[in-house]
Amino acid sequence: MRFINPDFSIPVNYFVQLEATDDELSALMHYLGFLVTEHVYDKVTRDGRFAPSSVWKWWASGTFVGFSGNRVVLKSGHRFMDSYEPIGYLATQSSHHSFLGYIKTCYAKIRQVRGAGSLAHHIAAFTARYPNFRQAKQHELLLEKHGFVYLRMLELYNLTETGKDVSSVVEVGGGACVNAAVMIGAFGCKYTIVDLPETISVGFSFLKTIFPELRIALPNIIHEHIAGGGDFGSLLEEYDVVFMLPYQSDLIGDSAMDMAFNVSSFQEMNIKVVNEYLSLLHRVLKPGGSLVLENLKISREIKGNSFENYRLDGFTEMKMCKPAYANFVIKKLSQLEHFFYQGVKG
Ligand SMILES: C[S@@+](CC[C@H](N)C(=O)[O-])C[C@H]1O[C@@H](n2cnc3c(N)ncnc32)[C@H](O)[C@@H]1O
Repeated sequence: MRFINPDFSIPVNYFVQLEATDDELSALMHYLGFLVTEHVYDKVTRDGRFAPSSVWKWWASGTFVGFSGNRVVLKSGHRFMDSYEPIGYLATQSSHHSFLGYIKTCYAKIRQVRGAGSLAHHIAAFTARYPNFRQAKQHELLLEKHGFVYLRMLELYNLTETGKDVSSVVEVGGGACVNAAVMIGAFGCKYTIVDLPETISVGFSFLKTIFPELRIALPNIIHEHIAGGGDFGSLLEEYDVVFMLPYQSDLIGDSAMDMAFNVSSFQEMNIKVVNEYLSLLHRVLKPGGSLVLENLKISREIKGNSFENYRLDGFTEMKMCKPAYANFVIKKLSQLEHFFYQGVKG
């Protein structure tokens, strides 16, 4: 072991504490152990098709999971309603942080908090745009636990054309899994999430707060299941939710899914990776299955990433519109605009 100087500029500094059962702690511990023994970080970052962009490598490097007794602490970019954030880090050694830099960080944070607005203000903005919106089943709980993100997913839920029968869904980049919670609540569907190793701990923990009974397979369980001769289909029969690492996503069978989602996530990937994922989602969707995307039309972080460079061959556009609430959230960021797209696999 050796001490390192943490990167104080990394913008993923929300902490949240959760109380966990022995089973939940054990599931997370086994998963974290597997990340080490299977050299998962190396495999994910060197992946020829789905590797994270440099900006995500940086953000993910600021994500931590800690344990104490029956508590878990998560540090990440996920601002739950119960999260807390240090206003700025003051390093013990002045050589590690300039005092001026600290003052600037505090000033930026105060502006950010003032500008973020209250949840009530956001609910009012949402309701003004969707006076007759349909609620998710766990509406109050989701508002209370992850209100700001839930409002974005609530808009998505209202814009998405769903048939009566949605039994299997795949999502790339599910983050805290609020969309998963909405869809599972609405349809009782089986849900598969492809995400980065660091984020998966956050998604698992949040889903367990909304649905404690959910049977969730983390990527180490997939690894063991396949090594034991099983396949993805039999795993999905045994579990309600499966979390996969990007390099495990080839295990999903052809034409296995009714719907596929990507929300605020392709916009942070290199365009080549976006198009690899689009081709994966096309393969795993059933004919007639829906692909739902909501992202920035032109990426804020990644050069060359724009909706016009998405390869949507094999999908027929069913709906394309501007998500009014998602655009309200970013209204102060000039030049940025979200799109909502729903396409059907032909
Ligand atoms: C900004 S978050 C969005 C999370 C959620 N969809 C939302 O809208 O709140 C971006 C998500 O994409 C995931 N992600 C980034 N690069 C990825 C990659 N190469 N493969 C899979 N997931 C990735 C991140 O881990 C994170 O969950």
